[in-house]
Amino acid sequence: MKTLLTNIKDLLQVREPDILKVSGAEMKELPGIKNAWLLIEDDRIADFGHMDQLGKLDADERIDCSGKIVLPTWCDSHTHIVYAGNREQEFADRINGLSYEEIANRGGGILNSAQTLQETSEEEIYQQSAKRLEEVMQLGTGAVEIKSGYGLSEEAELKMLRVIRKLKENYELPVKATFLGAHAIPKEYKEKPAAYMDLVIDEILPKVAEQNLAEYIDIFCEKGYFSVDDTHRLLSAAKEYGLKPKIHVNQFNSIGGVKAGVEHNALSVDHLEVMKKEDIKVLKGTNTMPVALPSCSLFLSIPYTPAREIMEAGLPLALATDFNPGSTPSGNMNLVVSLACIKMKMTPEEAINAATLNGAYAMELSEEYGSITRQKKANFIITKEIPSYTFLPYAFGTNSIESVYINGKKI
Ligand code: NIG
Ligand code: FE
Repeated sequence: MKTLLTNIKDLLQVREPDILKVSGAEMKELPGIKNAWLLIEDDRIADFGHMDQLGKLDADERIDCSGKIVLPTWCDSHTHIVYAGNREQEFADRINGLSYEEIANRGGGILNSAQTLQETSEEEIYQQSAKRLEEVMQLGTGAVEIKSGYGLSEEAELKMLRVIRKLKENYELPVKATFLGAHAIPKEYKEKPAAYMDLVIDEILPKVAEQNLAEYIDIFCEKGYFSVDDTHRLLSAAKEYGLKPKIHVNQFNSIGGVKAGVEHNALSVDHLEVMKKEDIKVLKGTNTMPVALPSCSLFLSIPYTPAREIMEAGLPLALATDFNPGSTPSGNMNLVVSLACIKMKMTPEEAINAATLNGAYAMELSEEYGSITRQKKANFIITKEIPSYTFLPYAFGTNSIESVYINGKKI
């Protein structure tokens, strides 16, 4: 099956196959072809070029993209899409003056979601999560990472991971699974948190690995949750099972989580709202991708990740949603890209690089996704007729997407 897109106003993020991420000043460049054609053969990008150089090409389907922009689908490298129920009451409580921390200390927050998830059947969790996944695909997401972490018991963590596996099996987009058993200390372990770490490391982790339920390991390294020592312990144990770290660090406090991640060769360190100079320094010269989650900052009214400082230090940066019921009940990557520009002073070029190629890198997917490259998977967005790509983040809250293709198929 061959599909030919013609008269594309701007074909964005056109890259050579060896570019797997972009860092520092490179992020200012967003290479593209104006007035372009793009040929899709089955599930892959076969070829592209300038309309002037379009010879005779046979295609089963032709799509005229006059006035429209084509770009790779968003690569959302940090989500908690699998959960049960919602927490809109906590949202109202925060409006009335309680802080996220106060709500958590009362047994709300992550523990609230864990209780709901434990009481919800696997099938029902799957149905709720699949609906969210379909919604984000319509919003242009073509690759996604999903974490466990609302189970907090062996049974419920494995249940969550099986739901992620079923999503992987039933949807065309690539899904990466992360085991986040160390997301919060369950109520019954409040007085003996070390025993919960023992449970995660000695009981749950081996089963996750044995059943091949996750690619990555995560921990919420934060005051009141898990320490840097816990992080070292867990990441060392997970390494034995081949699970690479992608960890929650520096959301509210800088306590050394970035350094711990780097020491374990983390694929990514995520959140980074509160960064000390040494947190940035320690990332230099590493393979670890810093990941910012600006819709979490918006929703919780916490600082935004210092994107400019990170990029000016020559580092790469990825953008993701953090879609979850507590701190970010939104999986809209278009909003994330807008917020990155509006609140973090990223240029549209930097934000689009961060939300496509660098997001793919943060899931080890950038050899196949994240750019318009010959032989990569045909995952792309066709916009509505818009004046320029800068219009995408500028017109925040407007849906500029006309259609989304995953593996060469329109969804
Ligand atoms: O990434 N920070 C830790 N975990 C989630 C929030 C979890 C929740 O509130 O349910 C996050 O923001
Ligand atoms: Fe998160």
